[in-house]
Amino acid sequence: MIKKAIIPAAGYGTRNLPITKVLPKEMFPIGVKPAIQYVIEEALESGIEDILLVVSRSKNLIVDYFDESLELEAFLERNNKEHLLSKMQIPKQQLYFTRQPYARGLGDAIRIGERFINNEPFAVLLPDDIIMSKGKHGLCELIDVYKKKQSSVIGLKEIEQNMLHQYGVIKGKETKSGIYKMKDIIEKPKKNPPSNLAAVGRYIFTPAIFSHLNDLQYVAGQEIQLTDAIRKLLINEKCYGKILSGKRYDIATPKDYLDIINKVHYLNNM
Ligand code: G1P
Repeated sequence: MIKKAIIPAAGYGTRNLPITKVLPKEMFPIGVKPAIQYVIEEALESGIEDILLVVSRSKNLIVDYFDESLELEAFLERNNKEHLLSKMQIPKQQLYFTRQPYARGLGDAIRIGERFINNEPFAVLLPDDIIMSKGKHGLCELIDVYKKKQSSVIGLKEIEQNMLHQYGVIKGKETKSGIYKMKDIIEKPKKNPPSNLAAVGRYIFTPAIFSHLNDLQYVAGQEIQLTDAIRKLLINEKCYGKILSGKRYDIATPKDYLDIINKVHYLNNM
C-alpha cells in the first residue's frame, strides 16, 4: 500500500515576495498552525507512515517548527500550562528532512527522494495546495483509485479557462464519473489547453517515475518538470486522473489564503 510520501518545500516562493524572503510560504499561518501542517495531517490521516520533506537552505524554520522545543516545554510544565503541550504534538518520528541543493524545480526535488522511497509506490503532496474535504481527504481519494488500478493517479480540479496556463493540464478519457484515463499532460499551456482539468498538488506514483525523472537533463535557467516525467511514464504505463471532491486553496494566491483563514476561523468557532 501507499506508506511513504514526499513533500517538496524547497521553492523560493517568488510569487509571495517580499515576505517569503524570511518566512517560507509553507509556514504562512492558518489559525494557529502553519499551512504545511494541514498537508502533513492530510497525509498521516490518509495512512502515510513516513514523510520526506525536501527543503532548501533558507527553509530552516520548517525544520525548527517540527523539532522538540525543550525550553518551551519545560516552561509550560513549570507554569502548569501542560494542557498546551498537546497542541504542539506533531509526529516527529514520522518526518524526515533533506535538502535540495540547487533550485532546479519540482521534478528535481522529487527525484532527491528516490532512495527514501526504495522502489515502492508513493505519494507526493505539494504544500501550497490545501484541500479541505468534508468527507475523505484528497490523498485518500487517490489511494482508493490506486488500490483498484495499481497505476499512478493524479489529483485534478476543473479550472477556469483563463487560469489553465498556470497548471499542468491533462488530456484524458472519462472512464467512470470523475476518473480519467490519461493520454497526455501539458505543463502550463500558453494556448489551446487540452481540457479544463488541471493537476492540483496531489499525486500517487509508481516507482517507475524516478527513472524518467533521472533521464531529464537540467538546462540552466529551466526547471526540471515533473510533468515531463509523467509524459514519459504514460508511454509505458497507464496513468489516471481523479477529480478531487474537496475545496482547494492555493495559499500563494491572496484570495485563497484569506478564504482559508476565514474558513478555519469559522470551523474553530462553530
Ligand atoms: C506545479 C506543477 C503543475 C501543477 C501545479 C499545482 O506548478 O508543475 O503541473 O498544476 O504545481 O499547484 P507550480 O505551481 O509549482 O508552478
